[in-house]
Amino acid sequence: MRLLHYRVVGGWMNDINDMNIEILVHRELNGEDIKAIIDIKDQHWKYGEISQKAWLRDNIKDDDFHIFMRRKKMLVAYADLVKINFISKNDSIECLGLGNLCVDKLEEHKGYGSYLLSQIRDFQNTEKKPILLLCKKSIEDFYLANGWSTVHYIRAEIGHETYNKQIMVYPQIGSNKFGEIQINRNF
Ligand SMILES: CC(C)(COP(=O)(O)OP(=O)(O)OC[C@H]1O[C@@H](n2cnc3c(N)ncnc32)[C@H](O)[C@@H]1OP(=O)(O)O)[C@@H](O)C(=O)NCCC(=O)NCCS
Repeated sequence: MRLLHYRVVGGWMNDINDMNIEILVHRELNGEDIKAIIDIKDQHWKYGEISQKAWLRDNIKDDDFHIFMRRKKMLVAYADLVKINFISKNDSIECLGLGNLCVDKLEEHKGYGSYLLSQIRDFQNTEKKPILLLCKKSIEDFYLANGWSTVHYIRAEIGHETYNKQIMVYPQIGSNKFGEIQINRNF
């Protein structure tokens, strides 16, 4: 096996050549893909299979994306990217919303989350739409270390609900400083 060293948050990762990254649109998923998503998400957000399935049905649209990072058939890390509009004053910018980033519990702290984020940044370079993500303050440093920056805002509404936690973006949108902002759907 050829080893390739990849610098990630927290150290060096050396088995990235074993990993396969696949980006699929929702309508292309098969039953096995859906099951793998439900299983990895349920390790971290324990809502159970029925609720996870319903969430996918109600929140993911046919042309949203899923990013799978697999070693052979095993799903090691996952995230979704959904199509959103970021609205500030009268400007509406088409963006992607990164959600549900997670790494299999047995594979955390090995650099895979950071590697998946680097692949998502590469995808942005072809898609050309800024990518936003929502997170807690406690994990902001992880995203800063992975090239994301903090969106500063006075008031935010996401899918018509008030939001007051962190919003991160890659790459930066203008000065990254806004007054009132809206995002048309939750993710
Ligand atoms: C967050 C997550 C994706 C990171 O994946 P990972 O492969 O473990 O991350 P990496 O190995 O690339 O980087 C690890 C470093 O990131 C930082 N980090 C990771 N998770 C963090 C968290 N929840 N809070 C603060 N920092 C965190 C730490 O510096 C960590 O270093 P350490 O391994 O020495 O502790 C993974 O832990 C996970 O699936 N968490 C549960 C789901 C979740 O919270 N997703 C984020 C939604 S916003």
